[in-house]
Amino acid sequence: MNITILSRNAALYSTQSMIKAARSRNHFVRVIDYSNCDFVIRNGKPDVEYFGESLFDADAVIPRIGESYTKLGVGLLRQLEVMDIFSVLSSQALSNSRDKLSCLQLLVKNDLLVPHTLILHNGHMYEELIDTIGSYPVIIKLISGTHGIGVLKAESRSQAVSLLETFNKTKQKVLVQEFIEEAKGADYRLFVVDGEVVASMKRQAKAGEFRSNLHRGGFAEAITPTQEEIKVALKAVDILGLKVAGVDMLRSKRGPMILEVNASPGLEGIEKTTNVDVASKIISYIERSV
Ligand SMILES: Nc1ncnc2c1ncn2[C@@H]1O[C@H](COP(=O)(O)OP(=O)(O)OP(=O)(O)O)[C@@H](O)[C@H]1O
Ligand SMILES: [Mg+2]
Repeated sequence: MNITILSRNAALYSTQSMIKAARSRNHFVRVIDYSNCDFVIRNGKPDVEYFGESLFDADAVIPRIGESYTKLGVGLLRQLEVMDIFSVLSSQALSNSRDKLSCLQLLVKNDLLVPHTLILHNGHMYEELIDTIGSYPVIIKLISGTHGIGVLKAESRSQAVSLLETFNKTKQKVLVQEFIEEAKGADYRLFVVDGEVVASMKRQAKAGEFRSNLHRGGFAEAITPTQEEIKVALKAVDILGLKVAGVDMLRSKRGPMILEVNASPGLEGIEKTTNVDVASKIISYIERSV
């Protein structure tokens, strides 16, 4: 097969791992920087061109669209859908999962557990609404944050209010969340490929830190998730329309709570931690589908 990886950086571990997996299964692989793709409609026929070369001969694509390229990525994936090219990620699933609000909306509509969350717009109502979360501390997150940067803990109402005022003043969008203390600085990533949890790890924050991100000094280990966690992860990806995804959960008193569903999950942490060849699972899913 001709497998095209849409990635801005062929040297990244995740991209390299998929190249290796595809080549070892005798597929032709190329990596294309999607930010330089041209969308073409010529004689009523849609195409995507990369330095003048058409992508129409691709049998399958593996999109690795970066956060800041979501809009372009959704357009590109839609163009490939019109061209009938198989993709492990659909345009709809990408936009469902990338937008934090629409992701939360879809999850709660389908009875999945997420932290109490506020996205505040009315500058006069901060104090009253934050109190409705029930207790302090609360978590404040920059909508555009990643790797744990932009995730803060406000210990009191006055701290939360002054943080919100600051973000409001600098026009940064944030959400306010209940702090799940019983998670004890750990989160769980379940990696799903085609309706199956293929690898799972726990990330534990370093001492004195509540953010479990490896970039913030967290420590990862392979785990076996509970049946309930597996059920929740599979339901979440199904609702969002994802085939390949990383589901991040906290163990809360009320049950497995979804923090985030990642449509372009990195492979390095999960493969190195669990020794599962996740890239090959993705290629084998493509083989079954095309
Ligand atoms: N409501 C919460 N209660 C307890 N801990 C939390 C909560 N939200 C986040 N955390 C901790 O902080 C970490 C970082 O938060 P989160 O995953 O939401 O942001 P991020 O990693 O910066 O963004 P992204 O995952 O979108 O790249 C989580 O992995 C988790 O350990
Ligand atoms: Mg995270």
